[in-house]
Amino acid sequence: MTAETGTVGVDQIGIYLPHRVLPLDTLAAARKVPTEKIHIGLGAYQMAVTAPWEDAVTLGANAAARLFAQGQVKPEEIGLLIVATETAVDHAKPVSIFLHDLLGIPNNCRVFELKHACYGGTAGVMMAADWIRSGAAAGRKALVVSTDIARYPLQSSAEFTQGAGAAAVAVSAQPRLLALDPISGVYAKNVYDFWRPLDKREALVDGKFSVDCYLDALAGAVADFCAARNRTGDKNTAPLYTQLAALLYHTPFPKMAYKAHLRLLESEWQRTGTQPADAAAAAARSYAELVDPWLEASRKVGNIYTASLYLCLAWLAERAADRFEGKRVGLFSYGSGCCAEFFTGTFVPGSAQTAARIGVADLLAARQQLTVEEYERLARDGTNGGVPPSGDAAFCHLAAVRDEKRFYERNGITG
Ligand SMILES: CC(C)(COP(=O)(O)OP(=O)(O)OC[C@H]1O[C@@H](n2cnc3c(N)ncnc32)[C@H](O)[C@@H]1OP(=O)(O)O)[C@@H](O)C(=O)NCCC(=O)NCCS
Repeated sequence: MTAETGTVGVDQIGIYLPHRVLPLDTLAAARKVPTEKIHIGLGAYQMAVTAPWEDAVTLGANAAARLFAQGQVKPEEIGLLIVATETAVDHAKPVSIFLHDLLGIPNNCRVFELKHACYGGTAGVMMAADWIRSGAAAGRKALVVSTDIARYPLQSSAEFTQGAGAAAVAVSAQPRLLALDPISGVYAKNVYDFWRPLDKREALVDGKFSVDCYLDALAGAVADFCAARNRTGDKNTAPLYTQLAALLYHTPFPKMAYKAHLRLLESEWQRTGTQPADAAAAAARSYAELVDPWLEASRKVGNIYTASLYLCLAWLAERAADRFEGKRVGLFSYGSGCCAEFFTGTFVPGSAQTAARIGVADLLAARQQLTVEEYERLARDGTNGGVPPSGDAAFCHLAAVRDEKRFYERNGITG
């Protein structure tokens, strides 16, 4: 067994989003909240809503099926399957083993579920990349599926930041989308900013504290990244953001990415002594160029926890990979509790062709709009299975929950 010395990174991405969506102006009217608070204050416009036959298993399996349907990655190539979620369906039986079965992945595959709030997906991607670099993969690929349903109590201030969806990321040597740089910066600290006790369906959150924790973790992870880069002998002293063509942040609500970018600029200006005279104007320009264009899908989907960062990456890849080939982007992942990681990657030649198959815009366009009453009914009904109508066509659904067991069915659709 020899260690993999070439590039390692994201070979392909599959995204899945629920078929139902609630426009947030209607929810704002129902809750007697000014629409501007949601559109401008949070930057959010719509949120994805799940049906009774959708859970973390079906969202994740549908995202992975869409990845396989693109034809470049095959189930028999997968030697490591990690599912990251904070909305698992069982305390012991992992979401990953349902996906393993539904997707026809070989028996000789390491399969497990991984949790650290919204950071879980990135923890999985990093472990997968290290598994390949170590040589243990022996030519096989890893599949990391991030899948979640963000649920807060009805009438709470966090209700506007709900959402649902999944991202399947295939990690391989000689990747066809994004080559990951081997260094990253991490930051961890025990904080109670967001949690969901074992008996609760909806998350509890200390919202404003969680924003502060996120920003402190960002500063800590970026400082660690710069220190790690210095240790490699890279003496580049220019501010980090000037070396990146885009910055993607974990996006619980789009305005959070704006707050994050401001914090990154401020700490980089301080570190490098390069604060411009008109800092506000420079920050606005930098945000408009590096961050804002890649938030469009998040604005229309809401928070999807572990998958949120990868939805931004998929959106950037789908919209602009042709302009980004050979360019380096920065990615920041935050999981409450907390652990965070800042890392970078470069779009490889040919990535535009790979990205053209992801199809996020088509998923967004095909959705059915709900009324607030329909959304509230779905929120109260829970996830007990059912038969999706023909317009909901996806790879699989939750058919029933019987005797404390969950039964999933494939629909004969490949992706
Ligand atoms: C994000 C969250 C804390 C917002 O809480 P809230 O009490 O409803 O909202 P706020 O009063 O802070 O208002 C939100 C923003 O809207 C702005 N706002 C309020 N009314 C407004 C109006 N009429 N027009 C425009 N903007 C308005 C506020 O100024 C604020 O902006 P700022 O953050 O830039 O100061 C809440 O949605 C939440 O708990 N979300 C889940 C947790 C989360 O996502 N955490 C992120 C880190 S993981």
